[in-house]
Amino acid sequence: MCKRNGQQTQSSLVEATKDNILLAAKLLRNGELVAFPTETVYGLGANALLEDAVSKIFKAKKRPKTNPIILHIGSFEQITLVADLENLKIFNRLNKVKDLWPGPISLILPKSKRIPYSVTAGKETLAIRIPDHPIALSLLQICNFPIAAPSANKSGYVSPTSAEHVLDLAESVSLILNGNQCKVGIESTVLDITQSKPIILREGAITKNILENILNEEVQKVTNSVDKSLSPGLHLKHYTPKTKIIFEHNLPKTVLNSKVCFLGIRKNSNQYKSFVLSENNAIDEIRRNLYSTLRKIDQLNFEYIVIDKQEFDSLEPAVLDRLSRALNI
Ligand code: TXA
Ligand code: MG
Repeated sequence: MCKRNGQQTQSSLVEATKDNILLAAKLLRNGELVAFPTETVYGLGANALLEDAVSKIFKAKKRPKTNPIILHIGSFEQITLVADLENLKIFNRLNKVKDLWPGPISLILPKSKRIPYSVTAGKETLAIRIPDHPIALSLLQICNFPIAAPSANKSGYVSPTSAEHVLDLAESVSLILNGNQCKVGIESTVLDITQSKPIILREGAITKNILENILNEEVQKVTNSVDKSLSPGLHLKHYTPKTKIIFEHNLPKTVLNSKVCFLGIRKNSNQYKSFVLSENNAIDEIRRNLYSTLRKIDQLNFEYIVIDKQEFDSLEPAVLDRLSRALNI
């Protein structure tokens, strides 16, 4: 339940009709939270220009105040309202990568004065993206103000890839727009173009290779040797299902087979119930199915999710990153 106009109202999951998108825009304009689909994962949106609305996001997700939020805009023309593009090097890089928008990439740029520090967790930079989803774009275009939106899950838990997943936050969200399953299924690549060399702060479907080809310069990845304070989200436990993920050799000897399931690219010949990410080893399918499968397993009564070390090592960087953090290695 949440309070709207002083009255208790049921938080609602609705079809994304024109009328409901208009209602969502109105709620956002009035400082309420609305969840909406993007091509990556569902976002928990607030009007980015209203400090009070943004603070509701942190409360709803139990998100540490130190973790900044991605700002979503509906068209490239809005960029000058949210970012400061005076630096020529940054401007030139932006001009090269902007054709990836709408798409699953967030760019770190210097923030404009209009954007409250509550969005950026006190930082002078801002993560911005234009999502590639008709419902998100329609909502953003009607709003005509930027929407701050992290993934619509409790902090630390697996991101939502369907509207039903967002019901975990039902108490705090005024409206959930249904856009069915997200086609990418993992969060956007986060690329910082304000540094001396561009740095990937979070892996995603847009890879280092793609970015180096477009930017025509070396792109780094955050490693232990690079200052991790560039990306506050990296310090946090993330993407973790309730069921413990483990390699088979670490499985306690005493655990019953019925309490163990296997998660893999293909079906495994071991004795456990198997959850398959992609029979054809198709990378898009693996990404798309990862979070929904972890959430599905969490609804069942398993103690452990076993993954195969060899398969794990063969995963693409973005999926490897999510599973490593869920495994806590
Ligand atoms: O695909 C996505 O990016 C989804 C959809 C809803 O757009 N959003 C999302 O937001 O994944 P969130 O809050 O779950 O992840 C944002 C990440 C965090 O790791 C955060 O630390 C980083 O982006 N980030 C945001 N602003 C930043 C900044 N100014 N500097 C460095 N990292 C930043
Ligand atoms: Mg998140």
